[in-house]
Amino acid sequence: MELAGKRVLLIISGGIAAYKSLDLIRRLRERGASVRPVMSRAAQEFITPLAVGALAASHVYTDLFSREDEQDVGHIRLARDCDLVVVAPASADLMAKMAHGLADDLPSAVLLATDRPVLLAPAMNPVMWNAAPTRRNIETLKADGRHMIGPMRGEMAESGEAGTGRMAEPLEIVAAVVSLLAPGERPLAGRRAIVTSGPTHEPIDPVRYIANRSSGKQGHAIAAALARLGADVTLVSGPVTIADPAGLRTIHVETAEQMLEAVLGALPADIAVMVAAVADWRVVGAAGQKIKKLPGSAPAPLALAENPDILKTIGHHAERPTYVVGFAAETQDVEENGRRKLQAKGADIIVANDVSPDTGIMGGDRNRVKLISKAGVEEWPDLGKDEVAARLASRIAAELSGG
Ligand code: CTP
Repeated sequence: MELAGKRVLLIISGGIAAYKSLDLIRRLRERGASVRPVMSRAAQEFITPLAVGALAASHVYTDLFSREDEQDVGHIRLARDCDLVVVAPASADLMAKMAHGLADDLPSAVLLATDRPVLLAPAMNPVMWNAAPTRRNIETLKADGRHMIGPMRGEMAESGEAGTGRMAEPLEIVAAVVSLLAPGERPLAGRRAIVTSGPTHEPIDPVRYIANRSSGKQGHAIAAALARLGADVTLVSGPVTIADPAGLRTIHVETAEQMLEAVLGALPADIAVMVAAVADWRVVGAAGQKIKKLPGSAPAPLALAENPDILKTIGHHAERPTYVVGFAAETQDVEENGRRKLQAKGADIIVANDVSPDTGIMGGDRNRVKLISKAGVEEWPDLGKDEVAARLASRIAAELSGG
């Protein structure tokens, strides 16, 4: 409970990202914080005060001139009866008001009246984010000492446009809250971690390759979760379409051999988490030119050679990291195969999952895993990949501190 006893005033302004604030409330409360919500008029067009109030278990403040709200606490007390003000999503409009000291509604009045630290999680269309007035306002807000998380690169929920403007994920915002309110809660500070993620591509010729369905979502989430706990993380990623996580170093590779080289280059480390779906085979003597089909003759068979096993190499290395985590993607006999891999690959723990097509795990956003170690098997419920990552990172931290 990193945030036990901490009071967060959460200001929700208008934007489609407001739906993520519901999850943010849950995540903050899970960690022991109390959340008092303030919503702008525009925010109420996207999510209801009823939902916000129910999740926060608190009255929701919406109106500067409401007799009830003002008698209850008043905007000056609202602004000060907290340890931190979080604005998520922070719209371009609300930040423009803040930068100019306007106070014509409850959120802007509270922000002008507060003497507490303020954390902004901006969310807007990339063109609005890059617009000259927004750039100027952001500079002003930074100079005023406002803290900021995001926005991230990625696709916008409403338009599908790509660019910078997507609100940081709830768990990223929680991490920023923890680092502001409980800076001692970084149990992996000073530890180095290597994470592999994504598929590998093994070329057949300059235009064709062998690949698999891995999206990199789980591996990237684990790298980010370790970084949030303070670890110095090197993420070695195969070809993926998701963004590099914030707060760590990402090395991009294509083939298994390149991945191994990058992992070895990142040693020494305290932690290794090998999540990548490494192709088991590569094509021997990949063609330098595009292979042409010849009329009437069958295609030449592909000669395959086994790729290096990166996890096994790390698990038996002279500079073996203190804690080595492997994954096992199985479609049957999950536990038995997991146990075999634990042994064969020299891992401390195997995170085994069933990747049969009907589970939707490969490429999807959720995961259901079993943790297999010498101590036995632990089954986790169906969770978001972010939540699996957060739990695994806490587990690794506990193992390293002997807990
Ligand atoms: N792994 C690796 N290098 C390889 C193959 C696998 O580092 N060349 C790692 C994966 O990152 C994962 C673990 O080994 O952490 C298990 O991967 P998986 O594909 O489930 O197992 P394989 O060893 O390929 O065994 P099999 O194909 O028989 O299931």
